[in-house]
Order: sequence, then C-alpha cells, then structure tokens
Amino acid sequence: MHKILFVCLGNICRSPMAEAVFRHLVAKEGLEEHFLIDSAGTGGWHHGEPPHPGTQKILNQNKVVWRGQTARKFVLDDFEKFNLIIPMDRENQTDILNLAKKTKSPIPDIKLLLSYHPSKSNSLLDVPDPYYTGNFEYVYELIYSCCFELLRELNRN
Ligand code: 4NP
Repeated sequence: MHKILFVCLGNICRSPMAEAVFRHLVAKEGLEEHFLIDSAGTGGWHHGEPPHPGTQKILNQNKVVWRGQTARKFVLDDFEKFNLIIPMDRENQTDILNLAKKTKSPIPDIKLLLSYHPSKSNSLLDVPDPYYTGNFEYVYELIYSCCFELLRELNRN
C-alpha cells in the first residue's frame, strides 16, 4: 500500500491540485485499492474550505474530479499515517522537517514534488504558488508531469 500525502502552505491551491491529479491518474489505471492519497497545509487558515476557485477551474477544465476535498492542517499523526510526504516547495519541506523533530515515530520519505519532474534539464525546485502568481495553468502542467512520473516510478517498484 502506498500512502502519500501532498503538502503545501494553505492546502487550497497546489497540494489539493496534486491530490486530485494523482487520484485521477491512479483511478485511470484501476489501482485505487493500492493507494491512500491525501493533502494538507502547513498553515491552518483555510481549514474546511474547498480548493481555491483557480484550482477548481483548472481541474474542471481537465475533467479531474476534486469534489469532497476540503483543506486541513498537517498534524503530527501524518508522520505515522503516510509513508511518502511530498511538499510543493522547500519552505513546506523545512516546516515539515521541523515538525518531525517533535515526533518519536519514524519519519517517512519526504521528497519535493519537482524531484519527480521528467525533464532532466528542469532545475526548478519549488512549485510556484498560484495564490500569489495567479498562474494555475502553469502549475497544473508542472503538477501533472510530476504526478505522472511519480506513479510510473511507484509502479516500477
Ligand atoms: P497553497 O497557496 O499553499 O498552494 O494552498 C496558498 C493559499 C493560501 C495562502 C497562502 C498560500 N494564504 O496565505 O492564505
């Protein structure tokens, strides 16, 4: 069982987009029973809210189902519940590593989403935050490419 948690700051733009896209790719291959997929934010300001309208729109345009997803804050129990944590940027990664100091449970793999980007020449480390840039299309392309490659890699192992 692969238990994967996507993490960003607010859990309304990037990580819910990654959650929905990855769930979509897993469902397309009929692999749902082998995966637990979720997302969370290092900040809790948007707790209970659905994805940002920009994320909803780009997912709808691409026929990716997101209904039922609501924002929540990352909790220490997530270190036990998941075996792969995927932060959207280095700030999220640092925040998670700091939280990891507060738990006695073994720390799962923590890997930046863009480390899965299929282009060898890609030097981006952080998924830009569309909450500030407004560029949901570009972020969708990045997230889709990385989620596609992540699933390929997990299927190989
Ligand atoms: P996200 O974007 O981390 O991709 O969900 C943000 C959403 C909300 C805020 C910051 C980033 N905020 O400050 O409320």
